[in-house]
Amino acid sequence: MPITTSSVRTSQQRSARLERAIERQPGAFRILTGDRPTGALHVGHYFGTLQNRVRLQNAGVELFVLVADYQAITDRPGSAALRRHVMDLVADYLAVGIDPGKAVIFAHSQVPALNQLMLPFLSLVSVAELRRNPTVKDEAAAAGLAGMTALMFTYPVHQAADILSCHANLVPVGKDQLPHLELTRVIARRFNERYSPGQPYFPEPEALLSAAPLLVGLDGRKMGKSFNNSVRIRATADETAALVARAKTDSERVISYEPDRRPGVAGLLLMAALCRDQSPQQVAEEIGGRGAAALKTAVTDAINQRFADIRTRRAELAADPGYLSSVLAAGNEKAAATAGQTLADVAELMHNRY
Ligand code: TRP
Repeated sequence: MPITTSSVRTSQQRSARLERAIERQPGAFRILTGDRPTGALHVGHYFGTLQNRVRLQNAGVELFVLVADYQAITDRPGSAALRRHVMDLVADYLAVGIDPGKAVIFAHSQVPALNQLMLPFLSLVSVAELRRNPTVKDEAAAAGLAGMTALMFTYPVHQAADILSCHANLVPVGKDQLPHLELTRVIARRFNERYSPGQPYFPEPEALLSAAPLLVGLDGRKMGKSFNNSVRIRATADETAALVARAKTDSERVISYEPDRRPGVAGLLLMAALCRDQSPQQVAEEIGGRGAAALKTAVTDAINQRFADIRTRRAELAADPGYLSSVLAAGNEKAAATAGQTLADVAELMHNRY
């Protein structure tokens, strides 16, 4: 089951319908979404997902935000940096406007009941199904045969536990996550059929595909936390200028938005455009024949202006690690209560009560 254009299109159409349903009745939705703690988030994350989470939170949707710390060890050894990366994520979340008074921010390693759900869920899927997951296949290929851990192979089942432990019915995702969400739906359906026939216990969560275009990295590759080709949300104005100055462009004087022919220039135009709520064509016209150097100045200014307030907040938060820990502890506790109830219900439905 590769991620086909048609399955993406179907999800896009369904996402448009969901957006209208959310507008009518935000309280009917509970979102679970999250990130692997592998480094501080960058502006691509901001426009790709963080902004959207804040929008949905403020529209009245219930929001659970997960720090997927166990997922961070699917393809790398646990490291001394893990705690720092977890706290970086929490600081990024709060700085961009995720409100700990409304949203639940938690780390899944801290919620035993969530992890215990993985065991019955593993009984509901076959090895052949897991082997077909195209996203895991890609990650496994990148890790090499010797690097393919059993956790990497089964993490989509763990992700189903993340989502179903809190009965989330909406999961904002990028395309690469669609296979995981499909598996979550399969697990929910099979659990319901097997253990709760006639009265479905788990919702079959829907994917909400982000409408935001994917930002390319400053080197023309996919923007990634581990590629060192992105501007972090928390970067200073000077760091931003230095990073953008390094970006790959070309020597044509007249700046134009042609993603296929001029990917480097197009990536920069898109970044400035998103920061200024304009179209990339508008930004290109404004730069005109002033060349790549003028474009880079414009991009730097656009990022620095757009993120100025967020960065100030981010710095204040980083200076108060006790506060960050307390936010996470409170979220862990709420997530544990929710997952604990789910696990108790599951045990009851599975006749695991003695
Ligand atoms: N797999 C996601 C990523 O790599 C992170 C994640 C873990 C997640 N569990 C989730 C996302 C549940 C949505 C729902 O970014």
